[in-house]
Amino acid sequence: MRVLGIETSCDETGVAIYDDEQGLLAHQLYSQIKLHADYGGVVPELASRDHVKKTIPLIQKAMSDANCRPEDFDGVAYTAGPGLVGALLVGATIGRSLAYAWGVPAVPVHHMEGHLLAPMLEDTPPAFPFIAVLVSGGHTMMVEVHSIGDYRILGESIDDAAGEAFDKTAKLMGLDYPGGPLLAKLAEKGTPGRFRFPRPMTDRPGLDMSFSGLKTFAANTIAANGNDEQTQADIAYAFQEAVCDTLVIKCKRALQQSGLKRIVIAGGVSANQRLRQDLAELARKVGGDVYYPRTEFCTDNGAMIAYAGMQRLKNKEFSDLSVQATPRWPIDQLNPVGL
Ligand code: KG4
Ligand code: ZN
Repeated sequence: MRVLGIETSCDETGVAIYDDEQGLLAHQLYSQIKLHADYGGVVPELASRDHVKKTIPLIQKAMSDANCRPEDFDGVAYTAGPGLVGALLVGATIGRSLAYAWGVPAVPVHHMEGHLLAPMLEDTPPAFPFIAVLVSGGHTMMVEVHSIGDYRILGESIDDAAGEAFDKTAKLMGLDYPGGPLLAKLAEKGTPGRFRFPRPMTDRPGLDMSFSGLKTFAANTIAANGNDEQTQADIAYAFQEAVCDTLVIKCKRALQQSGLKRIVIAGGVSANQRLRQDLAELARKVGGDVYYPRTEFCTDNGAMIAYAGMQRLKNKEFSDLSVQATPRWPIDQLNPVGL
């Protein structure tokens, strides 16, 4: 079976072709980072307009790379939410229309399920069950995963997501958007121990998280110590350490509570090397393993949507002729998808 996947939920246009026997046949990604850089964040209207321009040429390129014709496809998967509604509507409309024209099912995919399943595209995918530490720009969650579609949210961020906290703190330091990877790079030159940021909500039970206080703490630290190059690096170090420590503490609790030992990290912040190291260390201590996607599939991409769509298609979960765009959509309310 072969599926075309389309991702347009935010500021990346991603397209991919996944075959259940041959694996990933092609993928294309266009990032709008430059388009939004001057505004310091994503401008939804500009994002939608750009997806309109880029999606079809990227599909054509992926089809030509994989030497695929329309009749080779068994389904078209598109990100139906969560995300920016205008941006979602572009991928949803193109995906639904192509599926209609090609006479195959259209499969609405949950963006965070795409992230969660991205490690399945690797050579050694995780086996079920596992704890997923989902850390993206818009969401942060600890999820107990028993099989495809069986997702129990154990805890989530009650304010800023981890990626959002990285981006906002980076902005305070004067770094470009999206500042997460730049802040992580800066942290490599930081002095351990010069600053200590709080580990929010770790002193009380439960798995919910809060990261918005860390940017305020960063703002106060900058105000008191200045923003010279070394101080910036030291603040970046302490900020990153606090986010990672907090996620490790919460993940440890999730493992204890569920009795599981396998950890999956996914979403944009799973590209963070420190987080990978810290969670690998936790996995080692409990006698488990850690899994994450290759770096290019940590952030938004079409491959994860094509993969998740394939699983839904095999389960015969696809939509009618409607175009589905659901800006807010909890990951534990997926079934049946799009119906
Ligand atoms: O998953 P994603 O592509 O988008 C959403 O679904 O929201 O995640 C993007 C987020 C951004 O906030 C970005 O700054 C963050 O992931 N990010 C990182 C790193 N790479 C990307 N944050 C920390 N360290 C990184 N290396
Ligand atoms: Zn994402």
